[in-house]
Amino acid sequence: MKNVLVTGANGQLGQALRKRAGSYPSFTFYYTDIDTLDITDKAAVQAYLNKNRIHTIINTAAYTAVDQAEKEAEQAYRINAEAVKVLAEAARDHHSRLLHVSTDYVFDGLNHRPYIETDGTHPASAYGRTKLAGEVLLQETLETAVIVRTSWLYSETGNNFMKTMLRLGAEREELRVVFDQVGTPTYAGDLAEALLTILDKEEHDGWVPGIYHYSNEGVCSWYDFARKIMELGGLSCRVMPIESKNYPVAAVRPAYSVLNKTKIKDTYGVVIPHWEESLKRIMNDEL
Ligand SMILES: NC(=O)c1ccc[n+]([C@@H]2O[C@H](COP(=O)([O-])OP(=O)(O)OC[C@H]3O[C@@H](n4cnc5c(N)ncnc54)[C@H](OP(=O)(O)O)[C@@H]3O)[C@@H](O)[C@H]2O)c1
Repeated sequence: MKNVLVTGANGQLGQALRKRAGSYPSFTFYYTDIDTLDITDKAAVQAYLNKNRIHTIINTAAYTAVDQAEKEAEQAYRINAEAVKVLAEAARDHHSRLLHVSTDYVFDGLNHRPYIETDGTHPASAYGRTKLAGEVLLQETLETAVIVRTSWLYSETGNNFMKTMLRLGAEREELRVVFDQVGTPTYAGDLAEALLTILDKEEHDGWVPGIYHYSNEGVCSWYDFARKIMELGGLSCRVMPIESKNYPVAAVRPAYSVLNKTKIKDTYGVVIPHWEESLKRIMNDEL
């Protein structure tokens, strides 16, 4: 039996992993969040790995408040960069694997075709810079690490775009949503399945270190995503397209952040649903 530590396990992705981990009985999962294991605490992380003989860490813990990070860049850096190094050092010292999650916000969004893993990074926000710093520190410290970049995460738990749209759609007659930011929504349950597939491959000597991209298939704008949520939710709220410049927020988002998933499909045999398919499943409660 191999022990797997899931950090940030009360978050969206952490909860999605909890829900699905039972299908992988050759692993014993240990779930922690900031109240039980603060990943910025080096001594605590080292002691935890030592005591529980952790074979693989899945790091879903992060500072994810994108706009607030513009004001709290140091705090975001401590969690998204320094703590990733803490985990990497502990994994190195205990000969453990580390599966880490990163973001499409490491890119500036000026591409006109889906981003591949080797494309140049150039984050436009403090959040993106701290997440990129985490990737760099991790790869410098632990060459066996696997990093999965994802985008536009949503689920039935936590704060996310789908839940916000459902709430506002029930309260208002009209909503304005940006149409000039294009990417792909990712259902956290699908990403959790992909991470567990990678974990399972490790069991069969199929662990291939490096950076991978994962989102659902397809492309849309936030405006398209909002319209689909209203339609599937049976809400009559009108969704109007607006430009980002008319919806001021603290952090700059990439205008285009579609991820190319060829590498993760070819390497790990991950099967990826289309974003509309997954949204339909979650909204019809078929999960
Ligand atoms: N959400 C998105 O749209 C999105 C898009 C692309 C990539 N990602 C990446 O995907 C991963 C999972 O995101 P998510 O949406 O599941 O995030 P989330 O819901 O914000 O969950 C992150 C969890 O980490 C916890 N945490 C914060 N600081 C910690 C610390 N020092 N030690 C231990 N735990 C700590 C948080 O606790 P508190 O809530 O108490 O802070 C929270 O429970 C992250 O790496 C994120 O950067 C997310």
